[in-house]
Amino acid sequence: MRCVLVSNRLDLRDYLAPELARIADRVEVVDHSTGGSAADVRLAVAWHPPDDAFERYPNLQAVCSIGAGVDNIVACPSLPPDVDVVRVVDPAQAQMMSGFVAWHVIGYQRQFRCYLAQQHKKMWQRIEQRSARSVRVGILGHGEIGQRVAADLALLGFPVMSWSRTAKPISIAARGFHGQSGLFEMLEKTEVLVNLLPLTRETHGILNKDLFGRMRQGGYLIQVGRGEHLIEKDLLAALDSGQLSGAALDVFAAEPLPTTHPFWSHPDILITPHDACDVSVRAVASTLVATADAIRTGRRPPHAIDRDRGY
Ligand code: NDP
Ligand code: OXD
Repeated sequence: MRCVLVSNRLDLRDYLAPELARIADRVEVVDHSTGGSAADVRLAVAWHPPDDAFERYPNLQAVCSIGAGVDNIVACPSLPPDVDVVRVVDPAQAQMMSGFVAWHVIGYQRQFRCYLAQQHKKMWQRIEQRSARSVRVGILGHGEIGQRVAADLALLGFPVMSWSRTAKPISIAARGFHGQSGLFEMLEKTEVLVNLLPLTRETHGILNKDLFGRMRQGGYLIQVGRGEHLIEKDLLAALDSGQLSGAALDVFAAEPLPTTHPFWSHPDILITPHDACDVSVRAVASTLVATADAIRTGRRPPHAIDRDRGY
C-alpha cells in the first residue's frame, strides 16, 4: 500500500527509517513533495502536518500519528472529514509515562526540591517524612496511558482518583469520577494533579484559575497532556498566590519553549522538553501495517479515533 510521510517538525523518513525498510513489502513510502495529484496514496503518516498536507491525495483513507496524541493531525485544515485518524497504542510508552509521573509525584511527596536547596547550602537537615497514603493524586484522563499511571501509583501506595468523560467500572487502583460534578468532587480532594487528557474542543484551557482554585491549597501540577490545556497566566498566578506550590511541565503551547518565557526562571516550575515518553518506532510500524491491512480488507483500522470526539 502506498503511503506518504508529512510533517513540519520531523524528518519522518529518517525517524522511521529502519522500520520502514522492515515493512517495505506491506507499506511502500512514496514521495510527492514536488506536487501533483497522487491518486494511488491511501495511507499517510503525519506529525504536525502543514495546512495543505492532504490536499493532493483524493483517495486517502487513513492518517496514522507517530504518537498517542492526534490533536495536531485533527487540527489540519486539509484533513477530509471522512478520513480515519489512527493513534499508536504502545504499552511500553505507557510504562515510561508511568515512571515519569511517579518520579514527579514522589519528588513532591519526598520534597526533593528542599534537599537540593539544602545541599547547595551544605546543610544536613532531615525533613519530616510523609507517607504515600497521605498524598492524594487526581488524574485527568483514564485512557490507555492514564490507566497504567493510576495502577502504578496505587501500587506505590498513593490514593489515586481518576477523571474521565464516561463512567468506568469500579477499580481497586483508582476511584473513578466523571462529568463536571465528578471533576469538582475529585479536585477538592486532590493534592497532586496529573493531566493526561487528549487535547479536544472540550479540554482546551481546562487547567485554569477555576480548576486550580478547587484543588487542595499548596497542591502540585504534573502537566503531561498538551500545552493548550493550560492557561499559562493562571498557573503563574496560582503559584504566586501559593494556591499551588509547584508544577512539573513537559508540554507547552509553543514548543520549543521560547527562551524569554517566564516559566524558565520560575523557582517553582520544573521543565522537561516534551520528553515524558515516546512511542517506539516499532510500535509506529506495527500501527502502519495494521492500518494498511484494515484498508485492504475494508475494515476500520484498529485504534482509529472517533473524529467527533477528537480522540
Ligand atoms: P486516551 O485517548 O486513551 O484516553 C483519554 C482519556 O481522557 C479517556 O479516559 C477519556 O475519557 C478522557 N477524556 C477525554 N475527553 C474528556 C473530557 N472532555 N472530560 C473528561 N475526560 C475526558 O489517551 P492516552 O491515555 O493514550 O493519552 C492521553 C494524552 O496524553 C494524549 O492525547 C497526549 O496528549 C498525551 N501524551 C503526552 C505525552 C508526552 O510525552 N508528554 C506522551 C503520550 C501522550 P473516556 O475514557 O470516558 O473516553
Ligand atoms: C504522544 C506524544 O502523543 O509524544 O505520543 O506526546
